[in-house]
Amino acid sequence: MSDPGLPSIDELEVSGRRVLVRCDLNVPLEGGAITDHLRIRAALPTLEALLEKGARLAVCSHLGRPKGQVNDGLRLAPVGERLSKLLGRNVTAVRDVVGDEAKRACASDDEVVLLENLRFEPGEEANDPTFADALSTMAGAYVNDAFGASHRAHASIVGPPERLPSAAGRLLVDEVSKLQRLLDDPDPPYVAVLGGAKVSDKLDVIGNLLDRVDSLCVGGAMAFTLLVARDKAVGRSLVEEDRVEDVKRILERATQQGVEIHLPVDVVAAVEPEGGSPHETVPLDQIGDRMGVDIGPATTGEFATTILGARTVLWNGPMGIFEIPEFSAGTKGVATAIAEATAEGAFTVAGGGDSAAALARFGMTDVVSHLSTGGGASLELLEGKKLPGVAALMRTK
Ligand code: 3PG
Repeated sequence: MSDPGLPSIDELEVSGRRVLVRCDLNVPLEGGAITDHLRIRAALPTLEALLEKGARLAVCSHLGRPKGQVNDGLRLAPVGERLSKLLGRNVTAVRDVVGDEAKRACASDDEVVLLENLRFEPGEEANDPTFADALSTMAGAYVNDAFGASHRAHASIVGPPERLPSAAGRLLVDEVSKLQRLLDDPDPPYVAVLGGAKVSDKLDVIGNLLDRVDSLCVGGAMAFTLLVARDKAVGRSLVEEDRVEDVKRILERATQQGVEIHLPVDVVAAVEPEGGSPHETVPLDQIGDRMGVDIGPATTGEFATTILGARTVLWNGPMGIFEIPEFSAGTKGVATAIAEATAEGAFTVAGGGDSAAALARFGMTDVVSHLSTGGGASLELLEGKKLPGVAALMRTK
């Protein structure tokens, strides 16, 4: 495993101290109910380790994008309830971030305090030093375990390491080392399976992976921009016309570097991208004026063969509109092949919120060697960028 060299909580003095723990508890909500608990569960090892060392915690996180305003639909109380159940301890969820209630709770003996949604405060996203001061003065030490938010140079991520003894939580260390292994030390053959809606989100990742992978399998709507770059007709499928030239350059580079590119040869063609829309599976050249909403079985088979021959697999992004059952077979097929590859001993990583959501929907979250809790953060790391949250901890006192 690549050692990211981050300061560890094992060396942090926490006994008897209130420790500010930045987590990424930005969970999906539907009608006020949490629909996926992955990020809450993933926060537990660090919280438990700190409690065991005698710390009192001030857990903090953002939820959604309230843009510096209080938004009652984005309060952290429901997260606090779930956290309390999972930890088996009382969690005091306060209704402000750095106000009187938060200060009082942090000064009390309460073992676990959950601060209110950080993004209710305009200072969070603005990385305002006064807000970072206010957060930091409520604690005696800081732990960043918010891998999914560590690509944001926000106050709670980069401020406390300049002000408090600080360390990286277990999740942050685990995520960075597993994802870094995909860049530094991948066992060949190495395949990246990419999907999702927009190729523009993934161009930098593809650019950085081309030096490392043996093959790329591309599905999802982003594949249609690659197919257009190869002069294929794609009907009314989603295409980013302004990216076709960039994609041509990437495909050219792939050819020069001997990277195999697998693109859809058949698709599920639908009249509209909606459940109940008329649809059929056809070879790509019979798509007509319909749109591709999933990869077809021939493509899934080709991707699966490539995955099963690999020792390292990165999967980021679904192959189709997996939320609609009739358009989910391609994504499920890829997930199943990755599960088999994992069972055969390959190192497999699924990154990005949508791949995690797809695995959760199929009841397959435990079939990969590593399921990343980060969307944007995992992409930025795979693009080869330094995450501000990681860099701030490297500079810590
Ligand atoms: C995520 O869901 O990717 C993280 O929690 C970061 O959220 P953001 O994109 O709103 O900063």
